[in-house]
Amino acid sequence: MTEQTHQAPCVLVTGGAGYIGSHTLVSLVEAGYRPLVLDNFSNSARQAIERVGVLCGETPECIEGDIRDRSCLDDIFQRHPVTAVIHFAGLKSVGESVREPLRYYDNNVAGSVTLLQAMQAAGVDTLVFSSSATVYAPGVTMPVAEDAPLGPINPYGQSKLMVEQVIRDHCLAHPTFRAALLRYFNPTGAHPSGKLGESPRGTPENLVPYIAQVATGVRDALTVFGNDYDTVDGTGVRDYIHVMDLAEGHVHALDALRERTGAHTWNLGTGTGYSVLEMVRAYEKACGREIAYTVGERRPGDVGTCYACTRKAASELHWQASRDLEEMMRDNWRWQVSQDA
Ligand code: NAD
Ligand code: UFG
Repeated sequence: MTEQTHQAPCVLVTGGAGYIGSHTLVSLVEAGYRPLVLDNFSNSARQAIERVGVLCGETPECIEGDIRDRSCLDDIFQRHPVTAVIHFAGLKSVGESVREPLRYYDNNVAGSVTLLQAMQAAGVDTLVFSSSATVYAPGVTMPVAEDAPLGPINPYGQSKLMVEQVIRDHCLAHPTFRAALLRYFNPTGAHPSGKLGESPRGTPENLVPYIAQVATGVRDALTVFGNDYDTVDGTGVRDYIHVMDLAEGHVHALDALRERTGAHTWNLGTGTGYSVLEMVRAYEKACGREIAYTVGERRPGDVGTCYACTRKAASELHWQASRDLEEMMRDNWRWQVSQDA
């Protein structure tokens, strides 16, 4: 262990083996932090941590365990000088949350409450939480700002909003506590090295992983969920953000919390929306292959357009996304190809 690593502030990263968590580990190491991972590998594998090790020259310590396991958390806080927690651990499938709501409330909400209790007992007072643009009410004006009306329409989104509320109440009761509630838009892309990326299990629910599987021949064709929205070409518009921009947003959030107490909400998006067909064309350009698609029905619960107002994050976090769509698609494709290699 180098002297710098030894002195680096230790940040507990729950869900650090997952897609966004693993990329954030790289940004944390680059920024001089020492990440310590807690993950139950329910949607990831230890291999992701090893990949981070290859990229960073040192493999973050990783504990296999569950955020709902209070004794595991107490043990971690006792053994490690944790100064802050970045809390990614959670289940994230909208469809699954409709079928199994109790699993989502248990894992995402009860798990977060247990984490907060353990943090309080250990005197750790800084938290960055993975929330989502899905907490906004359908029909809000775009670009959507942090003070827009809230109203998620599925158990996954409800679980995110509930945790936001739990954290807000905890901050009110404990004035030294500080929290960043980061509302992500649509993360995509991969680390530019091609050594780290998203590995969805089963059939992908999200657009870019699905397109990538069509490009690699795993699936025959993309189904475009509706082409009768009031958008540029009738297909759904979203704010896609490069996962490394998102990762860096977490480092900025940690910095911002040094000079603030209380709960603070920040959108992490680019402020620009792209349609499904624009995404298909951008991916085709990156991979040099045609992406077959058919147009199907609208997906229940989808809104036509969603993109972020980025002003608050820019002025308070001193952060904005810098990687464009071409880079997102190129890095995603490099990751697909390197996995096949
Ligand atoms: P992911 O599934 O790749 O990562 C989540 C990680 O948490 C996984 O490694 C999983 O094994 C772990 N985990 C789940 N439950 C756990 C538990 N009880 N104890 C310990 N570990 C547990 O997902 P991701 O895309 O990296 O998302 C990270 C966070 O960001 C999630 O909370 C998700 O809801 C949120 N989010 C994701 C998106 C997105 O589009 N990817 C958008 C908005 C918000
Ligand atoms: N889409 C298709 N076909 C597919 C998959 C998606 O046409 O096979 C379309 C959707 O209809 C939508 C767009 O592609 O218009 C993006 O869909 P995603 O499922 O990739 O993303 P969503 O915006 O629906 O939701 C994602 C995450 C949520 C998160 C939200 C906001 O899945 O968990 O972004 O951050 F809350």
